[in-house]
Amino acid sequence: MEIIAKIDVLRECLAQEAAIAFVPTMGNLHAGHIHLVEQARKHGQCVVVSIFVNPLQFGANEDLTSYPRTLKEDCEQLIAAGADVVFTPTEQTLYPVAQTMLIEPPPIANELCGANRPGHFRGVATVVMKLFNIVQPHSAIFGSKDFQQLFIIRELVRQFNLPINIIAGDTQREDSGLALSSRNGYLTPAQKLEAQRLYRTLQMVVDNVKKGNRDYALIETQSSQYLTQLGWIVDYISIRSATTLAPASAEDTALVVLGAAKQGKTRLIDNIEFSLEN
Ligand code: PAJ
Repeated sequence: MEIIAKIDVLRECLAQEAAIAFVPTMGNLHAGHIHLVEQARKHGQCVVVSIFVNPLQFGANEDLTSYPRTLKEDCEQLIAAGADVVFTPTEQTLYPVAQTMLIEPPPIANELCGANRPGHFRGVATVVMKLFNIVQPHSAIFGSKDFQQLFIIRELVRQFNLPINIIAGDTQREDSGLALSSRNGYLTPAQKLEAQRLYRTLQMVVDNVKKGNRDYALIETQSSQYLTQLGWIVDYISIRSATTLAPASAEDTALVVLGAAKQGKTRLIDNIEFSLEN
């Protein structure tokens, strides 16, 4: 496996590759990321993983400086998973001048996670566009765990006519149901035990809707209140169309319930996609 930090070296290394499958990450890799690498191996002869903690997508009060950086362990996992190239640019390499050219995502980026993290998806879309231009992959794999991010990346590719096949990887979970996340490492043992309740609550929402309850606003309020009573700080629980991400109407059959809530200072997100068709 090659570990490459410079753009020109990476370009030279990839110049002859006919089928590149790309997995962008911020590192501190876990089985969720590795699952995406395994998906990538099915879609390309050359698997490229990037590790870059992107300052552009962090808000002023967020965890940019404390975000876990574990390059050595990450590389060991990537060798075992069969990645071919790891791209590890520095901030200076990716942003040698202030990034004043930005990708402005569609208005949906200001809802859900975007409502609580202004500018977050602009930062994500901009760095992913830069990484796509540097790596020039044929396929790129993103996790469904970040459902809104995946939606915006698909829109980026569609609206800018990028010749890249976007593939969704299933959310990998602990046995408890807790979605794997680099941020789980911030949780105390007690918080981690409680954290599994986010997924359980989303499952209760799905069951409720599948039983025929169509009062989505009421379900959202009740499930938020349930978590709040248990000490969570809830950003949102929202039932949406899985195809447009607009608030779900009674006619929608392809649905997704998304949730974001904090255990102490740690913000966790999760979602479940489901269908009302038999
Ligand atoms: P990061 O949080 O490191 O996630 C990298 C990729 O791993 C994303 O596509 C994310 O959806 C996926 N992922 C995270 N947890 C997962 C899990 N439990 N199961 C499956 N996939 C999972 O998302 C980012 O980095 C950044 O925003 C990035 C796209 C790299 C741009 O900076």
